[in-house]
Amino acid sequence: MLEQNKELLPFNTFGLAAKAAHYAVVSSTSDVRAAIQGGIRPIRVLGGGSNILFTQNMEGLLLKNEIMGKEIVRRWPNRVHVRVGGGENWHQFVQWAVENNLGGIENLSLIPGTVGASPIQNIGAYGVEIKDVFVRLRAIDLETGKERVFNQKECAFGYRDSIFKREAKGRYLIKEVVFSLTTQQHRINTSYGDISKTLETLGITTPPTIADISRAVVYIRSIKLPDPQKIGNCGSFFKNPELPAAVLTDIRREYPQAPGYDLPDNRVKIPAGWLIEQCGWKGKRVGNTGCYEKQALVLVNHGGATGSEALQLARDIIASVKARFGVELEPEVNIW
Ligand code: EPU
Repeated sequence: MLEQNKELLPFNTFGLAAKAAHYAVVSSTSDVRAAIQGGIRPIRVLGGGSNILFTQNMEGLLLKNEIMGKEIVRRWPNRVHVRVGGGENWHQFVQWAVENNLGGIENLSLIPGTVGASPIQNIGAYGVEIKDVFVRLRAIDLETGKERVFNQKECAFGYRDSIFKREAKGRYLIKEVVFSLTTQQHRINTSYGDISKTLETLGITTPPTIADISRAVVYIRSIKLPDPQKIGNCGSFFKNPELPAAVLTDIRREYPQAPGYDLPDNRVKIPAGWLIEQCGWKGKRVGNTGCYEKQALVLVNHGGATGSEALQLARDIIASVKARFGVELEPEVNIW
């Protein structure tokens, strides 16, 4: 059913007030086809609203993806393919997988948002990215209403990146995603330092199970990242910049402790949180917005913030990091 002038405050984790001129909840391909046939444009898709900053009211049509379902569609001795509806909540899917002893996504516990949004920015945390378990997805073309399958290669995944942020941006609604999960001999990934430390803190001494890893990740995230139910935010606001190694060498002349991770081709990834913290933003409040006190990469809404206020803070942070380090931060959230 098409609604007009829909208030979006309950549908975004930053807690911003904004209205959609036309709005429809879709739970099937035929719902999508019915909604788009009226010719209202532009069309945008909303998932969990956890990676979006509304800076204005939305013209056109906003589709809220509520296509549900979780089903094992193929089985092998050691693994299965699971097909999951794009409207399913990501963390509930992870919990379901862990409860059913399906491994591969436990490091991605507690990430806000929906399954349909997960491939768009190739969600990743604690040493795992969605591309590591991704098989294919089925999307609905918002112009024609036709379905199209994308395999792993066609998605062109990169760090917080895919074809859906580039050539195919805004063109599709992701109906369902198929993941390959292990049923035994799980590939436990404790490569991220915080995980092994947390397992110790939690008293887990035997080789960790996927449930242990999930618990550790939930523990870390609950400490480091603000709960959007309590304090509005959209996770990491910026991407960690990937730069030539020489940039880090230069930074380390002045800051020998500067963190950085080696990438192929003589490049490095520098934690944006560190750069922002060095510029004095961590824990700083500006009007109703601010930079989170425990993780500088996260911007927060202290209550009543507007999208443009948050955007201005983001711009000021970008400018100061640029001035101090010559590094241009790029927002990771979608600014609408
Ligand atoms: N750091 C600081 N100050 C800060 C924050 C971080 O100095 O305020 C430095 C520290 O050196 C720390 C390092 O940055 O060791 C890494 O910090 P953290 O482990 O918190 O990870 P991150 O690089 O800041 C990325 C993802 C997160 C993901 C974590 C864990 C991006 C943009 N963010 O953050 O993803 O949970 O790694 O894997 O890649 C998200 O995308 O919304 C998100 C939360």
